[in-house]
Amino acid sequence: MTGTATPPAARPSANEPCWCGSGRKYKRCHRPLEGRVLPGTVSPMRSVPDHIAKPPYAATGTVARMPESAVKTPDVIARMRIAGATAAEVLRLAGEFVRPGITTDAIDEYVHALCIERGAYPSPLNYSGYPKSVCTSVNEVICHGIPDSRVLEEGDIVNLDVTCYVGGVHGDTNATFAVGEIDDESRHLIAVTEECTWLGIEAVQPGKPLSEIGRAIEARAKRDHLGVVRAFIGHGIGEQFHTDIQVLHYYDPRNSTVMRPGMTFTIEPMITLGTWQHRMWDDDWTAVTADGRRTAQFEHTVLVTDDGVEVLTGGPGAASPCAPWARGGATA
Ligand code: MF3
Ligand code: CO
Ligand code: CO
Repeated sequence: MTGTATPPAARPSANEPCWCGSGRKYKRCHRPLEGRVLPGTVSPMRSVPDHIAKPPYAATGTVARMPESAVKTPDVIARMRIAGATAAEVLRLAGEFVRPGITTDAIDEYVHALCIERGAYPSPLNYSGYPKSVCTSVNEVICHGIPDSRVLEEGDIVNLDVTCYVGGVHGDTNATFAVGEIDDESRHLIAVTEECTWLGIEAVQPGKPLSEIGRAIEARAKRDHLGVVRAFIGHGIGEQFHTDIQVLHYYDPRNSTVMRPGMTFTIEPMITLGTWQHRMWDDDWTAVTADGRRTAQFEHTVLVTDDGVEVLTGGPGAASPCAPWARGGATA
């Protein structure tokens, strides 16, 4: 790209030649530099009414890890089905709310209210000091974007990561949504990322190592020359938001823990158009792609069963796009 030309007021669309005259597509030339997401203003922390049961970190912002069995009791599993279904419903409603012109803070306000209406505490709030009730990750933001005064624009993509704490357990799920009309490359990224997530879920089998999940995800991403983020991984979940189990989204034979019936963990691949490497904003939460290109993510909380897997954050709209009976494509 050339550094001297001045950008015109009206930008080309993604696949048109860049305004600078390089002959490259705009999306591969100046757009990654011009279109970066900028931090906005974060509103004051929202409060949660007294009648909602809160996790221990809600008051302090400090997460103290307790011992927790990887294999859950039937009672914990029953409660996790409810927390998972609650998170899935909140995510679906929040996704329907996404449109050009609203701020990510408005999404936070809505998710916060949806959780409380359902008797749930929004797990992100004050988790290690995280200031909001949902993560909103736009365009090149990989994960943990903090809702703020930034307005969603037509053509953006946004990941909403919802976690609900209800009945003493957490349910964690996320999806990437289109803001109005998006370009084909973004649409493809979202579709392949959702497919990766479900291929990971379908690799869950008692007796197999966790590394089978990352193997399935990485193979699908590679086929389309997409990147797999390595710095953020899936995790055990239950009475605590994050427990010991680690779920890599790429193949590493050292991820050798054997899956056993009753285990619960998340699968949440972050897939990139360009590099898989990240940079951190000064807020120490917002992770972005190092090259500024877009990234997408989907997440489910799953239970290993005697003969396969149960998706605890399933529910309407969560069917695998890989399955022959499913709608063909992303939820967005
Ligand atoms: N929901 C995220 C995950 O999938 C974690 C968010 S932690 C927060 O693990 F503090 F940023 F909310
Ligand atoms: Co998670
Ligand atoms: Co999550």
